[in-house]
Amino acid sequence: MPNILVTGGAGFIGANFVLDWLADPQADGVVNVDKLTYAANLRTLAPLDGDPRHVFSRTDICDRQALDVLLATHRPRAVVHFAAESHVDRSIHGPAAFIETNIVGTFTLLEAVRAYWITLDAEAQQAFRLLHVSTDEVFGSLGPDDSQFSETTAYAPNSPYSASKAASDHLVRAYFHTYGLPVLTTNCSNNYGPYQFPEKLIPLVIANALASKPLPVYGDGLNIRDWLHVMDHCRAIREVLSRGVPGETYNVGGINERTNLDVVHAICDLLDEMRPDGQGSRRRLIKFVPDRPGHDRRYAIDAGKLARELGWAPLETFESGLRKTVQWYLDNQAWVESVTSGEYRQWMAQHYAT
Ligand code: NAD
Ligand code: DAU
Repeated sequence: MPNILVTGGAGFIGANFVLDWLADPQADGVVNVDKLTYAANLRTLAPLDGDPRHVFSRTDICDRQALDVLLATHRPRAVVHFAAESHVDRSIHGPAAFIETNIVGTFTLLEAVRAYWITLDAEAQQAFRLLHVSTDEVFGSLGPDDSQFSETTAYAPNSPYSASKAASDHLVRAYFHTYGLPVLTTNCSNNYGPYQFPEKLIPLVIANALASKPLPVYGDGLNIRDWLHVMDHCRAIREVLSRGVPGETYNVGGINERTNLDVVHAICDLLDEMRPDGQGSRRRLIKFVPDRPGHDRRYAIDAGKLARELGWAPLETFESGLRKTVQWYLDNQAWVESVTSGEYRQWMAQHYAT
């Protein structure tokens, strides 16, 4: 049976991708390679228990030998690379893990895949794809009147996280130009949706608001992000994987620019409507806290290339997607409790100590 190999498939976007991919009974099997860091949760993948099309391997992408064995055993026709350290604030507190996984890990994966790929026959080599999932943060920060990031915008990463992702993007590009490895890169804006670890703005605000805890807003709250529902991102990845041109990069965005304060207000209002607490508006919980160092002011994506060439457009509006997401967190408190372990509590205490 044909397979694809997914890295980071127990994290937020990777797990949504794997669940969605295998919801199609005709889909190729998935070899899911994940180190299971704090950000992973196997509980997310529980619906796949007993499904022979899903093979999970607890493996670090920095482990070349293990990758070689997985590739030789499962002989995937494609690799979709999600695995990364993904949280900007953590990259400020401790950048080393970001350099290790995002740069060294991507390099190790590229080397393992290249060694596997050259053993394939000519037809299989041509059909093979490695899709690298990256971020709009590599392009840096926009002013209020700047045009959106396009695929040709110069890289200008500002955090250890975005610098490590930029480095990985460059390595992926180099493996196409130097070795002919058929790679694709997607640079996506902020995702939200089910199964997101509650260190990121939207699930953090939902969790804190439900517990009547302060809702920390960095700086003046007027930084802008371009929000995309995770299922729209997963659909874009599928389109690029099946019809994207090797060596090309594709921007993915939600056409949904919002200030952080707008996002927090929207969550408060939805919770007031869906789960009133009898104490007035949740907006009362907003607390302005010291800004993130090097905080990018604005991200905005021009996803025109993906629309023109592959016919992709987001299906969720921010309003419909956020409503569904808040409902999902209300309905899945057990999932949230399962990830808010000791490690999570330690991070919250350390990061929001002031
Ligand atoms: P996440 O932090 O929720 O999940 C990352 C997953 O990678 C986890 O399951 C973790 O265990 C795994 N992992 C980490 N280090 C590993 C290693 N050394 N070996 C194997 N597995 C390892 O991240 P996410 O939000 O799902 O992001 C997935 C990818 O998408 C990342 O590459 C990120 O840069 C990119 N991205 C994220 C967003 C977003 O808004 N979340 C937007 C654009 C791009
Ligand atoms: O743009 C894509 C990127 O989006 C991805 O590459 C990253 O992996 C992902 O984590 C995300 O990065 P951000 O830094 O934009 O996301 P985060 O949820 O951490 O923060 C969103 C905005 O909200 C940002 O301007 C910082 C602000 N913020 C965040 C937190 C956690 C707050 O004001 N308070 C908070 O407590």
